[in-house]
Amino acid sequence: MSGTNERWASRLGLILAVAGNAVGLGNFLRFPAQAIQNGGGAFIIPYLVSLVVMGIPLLWVEWAIGRHGGQKGYHSTPGMLDVLGRSSLLKYFGIFGIFTNLVVAAYYCYIESWTLAYTFFSITDVFNGMSQGEVVQFFKDYLGSGEGFFNIPYTALIFFAITLGLNLWILSRGISGGIEKAGKILMPLLIIFGVFLAIRALTLDRGEYGTVENAVAGLNFLWTPHFDSLANPKVWLAAAGQVFFTLSVGMGSIHCYAAYLRKNDDIALNAASAGFMNEFVEVVLGGSVVIPIAVAYLGLASLSTFSGFGMSFMTLPMLFENWGPLLSAVGGFTWFGLLFFAGITSSIAMGQPVMAFLQDSFKFTRFKSTMAFGIAVLVLALPTIILYDHGAFDEYDFWAGTFSLVVFALAESIIFLWIFGIDNAWEEINRGADIKIPIIFKYVLKYVTPTFIMIVFVGSMIQPEGGNWALAFEGLFNGQGWNLDAGSVLGTLFHIGVTDSDKILVTNLTRLLLVSVYVILGVLVAIAWKVNLKEKRV
Ligand code: PHE
Repeated sequence: MSGTNERWASRLGLILAVAGNAVGLGNFLRFPAQAIQNGGGAFIIPYLVSLVVMGIPLLWVEWAIGRHGGQKGYHSTPGMLDVLGRSSLLKYFGIFGIFTNLVVAAYYCYIESWTLAYTFFSITDVFNGMSQGEVVQFFKDYLGSGEGFFNIPYTALIFFAITLGLNLWILSRGISGGIEKAGKILMPLLIIFGVFLAIRALTLDRGEYGTVENAVAGLNFLWTPHFDSLANPKVWLAAAGQVFFTLSVGMGSIHCYAAYLRKNDDIALNAASAGFMNEFVEVVLGGSVVIPIAVAYLGLASLSTFSGFGMSFMTLPMLFENWGPLLSAVGGFTWFGLLFFAGITSSIAMGQPVMAFLQDSFKFTRFKSTMAFGIAVLVLALPTIILYDHGAFDEYDFWAGTFSLVVFALAESIIFLWIFGIDNAWEEINRGADIKIPIIFKYVLKYVTPTFIMIVFVGSMIQPEGGNWALAFEGLFNGQGWNLDAGSVLGTLFHIGVTDSDKILVTNLTRLLLVSVYVILGVLVAIAWKVNLKEKRV
């Protein structure tokens, strides 16, 4: 079997690679947007609770599944789940661990390519003298927005091709020579850029460089806790979703990195330190740049208009312009450069599991599997690029980047903690451990984590209109039925509130494509087991 003998070269390299995996666009773009949409301080408490009862436990679960599977020669989730129990069905749950990585990589590499482009535009001072409206228009033009049904944004395509090429180049160099090296070089740079920007942002005083507010007002917005949010399931769902995305759990990506460990290598401390490093970058650095700068220039009220991955591209370049010619270029370069580093160390973490599956199952060489991944990402990314305006991108993000993570996490935690069994699981997590995990986590793992994920799952399926559960139950008992929220899983599935027929068509075709990808992967798994992996290595 090719690829099985690859290993991480050093512990520091491993930690930086795994931190690079977790620290991504989610930390700097998704976290602030989620926090803003869910009321700032109202978001933080559910977020931290989800982190402790679900995020960190899932990290241990995934590292343990990964190291255990790696010992048996499996570096992707179908094989890893297969060896956890007798049923031959288990491996099919593992398809998620390839599917999500592949599909998320497609739209994630696209956003990543915007950051590369914007780094370039910042250095070449493209934004000089532009008004807010012009910066927004520039972004729309870059994406080819509003140019008829099919948009072919040529510049964006070129940057996408360069980005994908760089990803493939790193991946083709292997675990220690590619992924580990990238983490070792890019993560320290990212931290330096992040600290620079956070200091610059937080020290913006009212009146300085044209600001209208103290930047610290943005921090207060984020960090003044609202305890009543604890009773708001909508905020809980958003918080849990963010924990999934930012820690890269529920994806099959962590498992893959852990598969290149040795049998008795520590996982308890490694998983926790990489997790905490991610949280530092997310809540400390990620929380100290966009929100404070935006508040300083545009005031607190402006925050309500911020959402999604795009906001940084539409506002920050203009705000940086206030810093004068040199500092604005430095600001843009460090900000978009940091995003690019964060992005690429994450997208390679989505590539490796897909490649490992091909290497383990079909004896692909590293080169051949890199090429296969590249072609698949290119094909899957084209709809999101060309049909961006019509919602293809959002469909990928919803089904592969949000919904699938919860489903897979639920499946893996039941398989590992209940079928493989909590005693085996606890032994596996603690073998070779460099810290003693408090025994209470054995019970958290067995009962709390799966229950929590289950509640998140059911909650997101049937979230009522406006996220108002009290009102929804009242309505239900009064015989008015249950009105689904447009953002709930069922609401999205049935296009609730969508009237644009083009959008419905594109959405349905996108779903057909995603289902086909899943089915094709399922067939590949079935063939792999029939042809190459006959005997079960329990
Ligand atoms: N955790 C990454 C982020 O915050 C995203 C990611 C998900 C990376 C899954 C790898 C695997 O952006």
